[in-house]
Amino acid sequence: MNVLVTGGRGQLGQAIVRRGAAAGHVVTALGHHELDICDEGAVAARCNDHAPDVVINAAAYTAVDKAEANRVGAFAVNADGAAIVARTCAARAIRVLHVSTDYVFDGTLDRPYQEDDVPQPISVYGESKLAGERHVQAAGGIVVRTSWLFGRGGPSFVHTILRLAAERPLLRVVADQRGCPTWADDLADALLVLATRPDLEPCYHFCGAEAVTWHAFASAIVAEARLHRGLACERIEAITTAEYPTPARRPMSSVLDTARIRGLGIEPPRWHTGLAAVVAQQLAEP
Ligand SMILES: NC(=O)c1ccc[n+]([C@@H]2O[C@H](COP(=O)([O-])OP(=O)(O)OC[C@H]3O[C@@H](n4cnc5c(N)ncnc54)[C@H](OP(=O)(O)O)[C@@H]3O)[C@@H](O)[C@H]2O)c1
Repeated sequence: MNVLVTGGRGQLGQAIVRRGAAAGHVVTALGHHELDICDEGAVAARCNDHAPDVVINAAAYTAVDKAEANRVGAFAVNADGAAIVARTCAARAIRVLHVSTDYVFDGTLDRPYQEDDVPQPISVYGESKLAGERHVQAAGGIVVRTSWLFGRGGPSFVHTILRLAAERPLLRVVADQRGCPTWADDLADALLVLATRPDLEPCYHFCGAEAVTWHAFASAIVAEARLHRGLACERIEAITTAEYPTPARRPMSSVLDTARIRGLGIEPPRWHTGLAAVVAQQLAEP
């Protein structure tokens, strides 16, 4: 399969390059400076040049808090850029897989979110991603929502906790928000399999098996890091969302139901294997 990846230098983009090569696909990953998805002419030219079987749109404005003060910037990439990619591909009968987020939901549901649950974003980032989903689906593209993504090199919560745990004896981490961490390599594998399947639904959820709070995830990260080296961190205090105000609101529970993608035989692995791999890679770097 000939795969073109936008946002190719990001966490997920790099994972698709690694996993795609391992699976024997021809993967062309274009970073932001090589292809700006907001530039319609450039997107068309790249699609013409590469003639991919599938485009995976991993490009996004992912700075959730900064988006609150930069609505225009977030919508330009996450909504308008996504629309350009989807429309350009539709005109050439190229399949599009577009990556979206659990942050399209408000997090008030008392069960995991299914694909057809009504999105109700509570942040500018979430609104911009939802707008992108709608443009992509209107052009016949496929949306794949994921959550709490971490991968080699970051940026991610894993990388932030590793840095802080090396510096500080006390970490204070929110313990009343729940979600599912997802290893970028696992998502990359799922996207590459999905890309080969006929007759897809308009939307799928994919996230690591086992929901946790940020506090529990931080504890797992620190425990994993301790297998490699000593840390300044002595205690991880559980705090509430109210005690850790951020510019953007985040869903309290954004666990995604993955039954639909499991129905295709794509089984989301537990995130622990990925965490061990990413922590080992990060701590091995000078
Ligand atoms: N990270 C998470 O926790 C998380 C959770 C749920 C869903 N997602 C979704 O998963 C996808 C991948 O996220 P990620 O973690 O891999 O993000 P990432 O590491 O921030 O990568 C996104 C990439 O997109 C690039 N980009 C930004 N604007 C662009 C533009 N106009 N044209 C082309 N490229 C552009 C960025 O380049 P620059 O840095 O140079 O701007 C960056 O390399 C995104 O759709 C995101 O919304 C992420």
